[in-house]
Amino acid sequence: MAQPEKALEALLEEDRLFYPPQDFALQANVRDQGIYQGAQKDPEAFWAAQAESLDWYKRWDQVLEWKPPFAKWFVNGRLNVAHNCIDRHLKTARKNKAAIIWEGEPGDSRILTYQQLYYEVTRFANVLKGLGVKRGDRVTLYLPMVPELPIAMLACARIGAPHSVVFGGFAAEALRDRINDAQAKVVITADGGYRRGQVVPLKKNVDMALEGTPSVEKVVVVRRIGGPFETPMRQGRDLWWHDLIGAAPLHCPPEEMDAEDMLYILYTSGTTGKPKGVVHTTGGYLTGVSTTHRMIFDLKEDDIYWCTADIGWVTGHSYIVYGPLANGATSVMYEGAPDFPARDRFWAIIEKYGVTLLYTAPTAIRTFMKWGPQWPERRDLSSLRLLGTVGEPINPEAWIWYHRHIGGGRCPIVDTWWQTETGMILISPLPGITSLKPGSATVPFPGVDAQVVDENGRPVPKGSGGYLVLKSPWPAMLRTIYGDPQRYVNQYWSRWEGMYFTGDGAKWDEDGYFWVLGRVDDVINVAGHRIGTMEVESALVDHPTVAEAAVIGRAHEVKGQALAAFVILKEGVRAVPELISELKEHVARKIGSLARPEDIIFTAELPKTRSGKIMRRLLRDVAEGRSLGDTTTLADPTVVATLSAKEAKAWSGEGG
Ligand code: WTA
Repeated sequence: MAQPEKALEALLEEDRLFYPPQDFALQANVRDQGIYQGAQKDPEAFWAAQAESLDWYKRWDQVLEWKPPFAKWFVNGRLNVAHNCIDRHLKTARKNKAAIIWEGEPGDSRILTYQQLYYEVTRFANVLKGLGVKRGDRVTLYLPMVPELPIAMLACARIGAPHSVVFGGFAAEALRDRINDAQAKVVITADGGYRRGQVVPLKKNVDMALEGTPSVEKVVVVRRIGGPFETPMRQGRDLWWHDLIGAAPLHCPPEEMDAEDMLYILYTSGTTGKPKGVVHTTGGYLTGVSTTHRMIFDLKEDDIYWCTADIGWVTGHSYIVYGPLANGATSVMYEGAPDFPARDRFWAIIEKYGVTLLYTAPTAIRTFMKWGPQWPERRDLSSLRLLGTVGEPINPEAWIWYHRHIGGGRCPIVDTWWQTETGMILISPLPGITSLKPGSATVPFPGVDAQVVDENGRPVPKGSGGYLVLKSPWPAMLRTIYGDPQRYVNQYWSRWEGMYFTGDGAKWDEDGYFWVLGRVDDVINVAGHRIGTMEVESALVDHPTVAEAAVIGRAHEVKGQALAAFVILKEGVRAVPELISELKEHVARKIGSLARPEDIIFTAELPKTRSGKIMRRLLRDVAEGRSLGDTTTLADPTVVATLSAKEAKAWSGEGG
């Protein structure tokens, strides 16, 4: 087994190029390289031309107003996102086309045509109005991957109430913080959701979260589980979705929103302990996500498109809901786990619905690799014609495996780089014209001004590495951090004059291709989920036994990165093995299981610089079992001696 792997690795070092297959290139939505020059010469004209394909109540007066770092796109334009995602399709042949194909984990399914989606959304919009939700009020959605989630998002968009979707994997306390930061008036949840056959008790978490959320007036509960599963409802506050929607009138005129009105807030981890509420607005966002979705996924009228992300993350917002529906596509959503009931669940779904475009994450691909090609081989994947990845750098081995075993060697792969903050894909191939290099997200999308710069903000020469920045605004960019514009300025726009700093390191090769290397700040990307080291550190020091903690990301074969926590215990506390699982559980309880550290390493001291900064690079070396590099800037060089890899391993619980 080891030999072919080695041979493959050698091949990969050869910098292989994959040209667009000829039959694909001939039918592609974008066939002309000229699109790059055109957009570069006049980005505003390029984006204005894209915005024309949306329905506007009132056209904009000005494409872009740029007062760095604050941008307004399509100034004074007026439109409604729900109208663009639903109503306008009803006048066309899309009326009875499937908008959402939903597959529940236990095997139940539901297909909503655009017409049916219209009825669901307008009725729920009326429900929200009946609960007193007005234009501008915030609504928090804490739901599993069920159709009611996009329905509720679109209902909010219809009445101009920004939504804040909180991923169902977050714990009560994390949910509470997000509700309070947004000052949400209504929370929408479900009795539970399915995950590997187990019930995730969402409403129970909401009840705990709502012990400290004075802004919340009503809770709407979707009955997903029902049966003997008990859900206590609080009189006067909690209402069942099905009771409300049954009584709600059909039709609800969409609000005419300003292009710059807030569409949603989405919380993401940053370099400080508190998650940031990333604000996305209406006109530029919808223009950005619909254009990239159409061009990058080469969307055709009869495609069946499946993005496997959870709508709790930005990928689901932009590329399950808003981009695809604005384009009148059929978007598949799946509730559960890829290995339930068996390890071929994804491939079974592709076979069942004839999925043509698949968008997933490198961590999932590495998991499938581990499970072996026999699982996809059991299913008919011949409907697939294009594959996509997002969320973290994809290693060439995983790229090749995906290409061969899922794409049958015939499907282009679009490796798409972007962030919660960018709202839309910014670096990606255009599959009909871009030659692919496994592991590279290739080149910036037309009209996008990305660069790799050095410490001083100067562009690095081709063939070198540095920091990934964006030098001009793009339509779907975040507009601010909710309630904290200063933080928006500091976080993204103050490292170098006039540049947006992504937080990512990148390399630029001789052909001008971008290779994103990963975060260079205190954000850790675990299985494609962003986690701030500070959030996990504050959760740890909140435990009564912990005096100090430092969290780093270490390399992990499947997840890309895993969390390793170095913990100093309080005087007199014994470092017993049971404490390791107790601390892991504690973090999961406070933030959610996605933040559960892989390793807890007890230590007597942490390596710090003379100015008191923890030297995370050294901790990473320890966690990854490397010999320690340069330690000359350490305040107390003896600390590293006690942190030798061997001892650390023994303390981590694996060794004893
Ligand atoms: C990483 C997810 C390499 C990157 C859409 C970024 C990637 C962070 C890629 C944003 C990619 C995302 N190649 N790295 N194709 N896509 N990343 O906000 O570090 O959850 O800064 O948005 O994921 O994560 P977020």
